[in-house]
Amino acid sequence: MRAEVKDLEVLLDSGVGLLVIESLDESRVLELMTRLAMARSLPLFCWSVASGLSGLGFTERSGEGEHTEPESLLRHIRSYQGPGLFVLCDFHPFLQDAPLVIRLLKEIAMDDSANRSTLVLLSHSLSLPNELRHYSARFELAMPSEAQLMSIIREEAQSWSDRNNDKRVRTDNRSLQHLVNNLRGVSWEEARKLARTAIVDDGAIDGNDVDEVKRAKFALMNHDQVLSFEFDTSKFADVGGLQRFKAWLAERRDAFIDPQPDVDIPKGVMLLGVQGSGKSLAAKAVAGVWDLPLLRLDFGVLYNKFFGETERNLRRALQLAEAMAPAVLWVDEIEKSIASGDNDQGTSRRILGTLLTWMAERKSPVFLVATSNDISQLPPELIRKGRLDEIFFVDLPDALVREQILSIHLKKRGLDPKDFDLPRLASVTEGFSGAELEQLVVSTLYGSDANETVGTEQLLEAASDTQALSVVMFEEIARIRAWASGRTVSAH
Ligand SMILES: Nc1ncnc2c1ncn2[C@@H]1O[C@H](COP(=O)(O)OP(=O)(O)OP(=O)(O)O)[C@@H](O)[C@H]1O
Ligand SMILES: [Mg+2]
Repeated sequence: MRAEVKDLEVLLDSGVGLLVIESLDESRVLELMTRLAMARSLPLFCWSVASGLSGLGFTERSGEGEHTEPESLLRHIRSYQGPGLFVLCDFHPFLQDAPLVIRLLKEIAMDDSANRSTLVLLSHSLSLPNELRHYSARFELAMPSEAQLMSIIREEAQSWSDRNNDKRVRTDNRSLQHLVNNLRGVSWEEARKLARTAIVDDGAIDGNDVDEVKRAKFALMNHDQVLSFEFDTSKFADVGGLQRFKAWLAERRDAFIDPQPDVDIPKGVMLLGVQGSGKSLAAKAVAGVWDLPLLRLDFGVLYNKFFGETERNLRRALQLAEAMAPAVLWVDEIEKSIASGDNDQGTSRRILGTLLTWMAERKSPVFLVATSNDISQLPPELIRKGRLDEIFFVDLPDALVREQILSIHLKKRGLDPKDFDLPRLASVTEGFSGAELEQLVVSTLYGSDANETVGTEQLLEAASDTQALSVVMFEEIARIRAWASGRTVSAH
């Protein structure tokens, strides 16, 4: 905390009148401010709409609980014969459409006399109106270091013991280190909660806690819901074909999970292919096979929920992905989100810029899997060599892969593939996508009544009734294939 106090002192000396601190650790920030006030012998006041203004630390507690109204508060601060430090907790709602409040803040912030006051706006999230930005600085709390995380865990273990007749928390070095790794990137408050979560159920920190802590961590940190944690990952056994893609992933698993100094960490891939060819399924399989959390980035939420703040929230989502590292970040149908068109006042351009910068600068192992049906829509800078490791083209399955896919879906529904003439079925389903093959199995099962056995004949019949999408979309597929040849690697 000492280093943070020093940083804050530098900011105070630079004459900034308005400090913005975004944090959920209110008590920690207040402690920090108390130390700052002591170091500088400044009177310190804290305000909230519920309690009004009151003195903190050694500051005389006069006029406690007054000025609950923002306007009255700011007038009081403006006329305060400073210098003083005023921390306003959760002031953010009062900045909305509030010209008077904004003007008062600006007048306080503009004061550069010797007895000026410094305002600290402390909220979980706060964006300043333009009028005030010029007079402000942002301060970020340091995240707990490894040693500090270790001592948080120790304190939580001790307090569990105290509550449980001095029983000791069971653990081993490996699990403890695992837990510390998973707590990296979270705030103090959150680290404490997560350590408690790991210990409280069984009085042990062991291998079982890691997954749980990861999920709990995600739930704690995912305030914007731009990312979602996908529980439904898949195994290679669920995916027919894609041998090359599977082999590629298998070769890079170690380089990703356990990076070595002289080996590049895999960055990510693009999966390009026609509808229903299994791109989304394959994306899920990356996480399943590497045994990593699968985080899905939802541009829909980003665009709709955060109109005007999209880039900032994308940055936050990417930070969260890094905090969850090692992890797989999945962007499905990426062309829909950042098409090269320019009909949205440049938002998608800027979003693309943010994504590209992150891809170039990310520090933690986050593997990006993007899928797309139509790469010609995508801006060339995204798929330029070096950004991603590879572009895989997922073509329609050939006969052998069709057999595999049919077999996977028959098994999934409790049928034995040996009872079916798979080569024959594969030969009549030329042009079918993986999704269509699955549909064939599903519709045949539903179409039959309970006593009827489902066999090759029923499937053949259903196949002859089906018009494969590849027939309807013949030209479209030819176009994708032409684009893909030479530019991409076949996934099959
Ligand atoms: N190679 C495959 N192996 C096994 N099942 C497959 C395969 N391809 C597709 N399927 C089945 O079809 C379903 C739909 O496929 P998926 O959603 O992955 O296709 P997609 O390429 O992402 O399509 P879209 O472009 O429409 O998003 C999968 O959930 C899976 O059940
Ligand atoms: Mg898909």
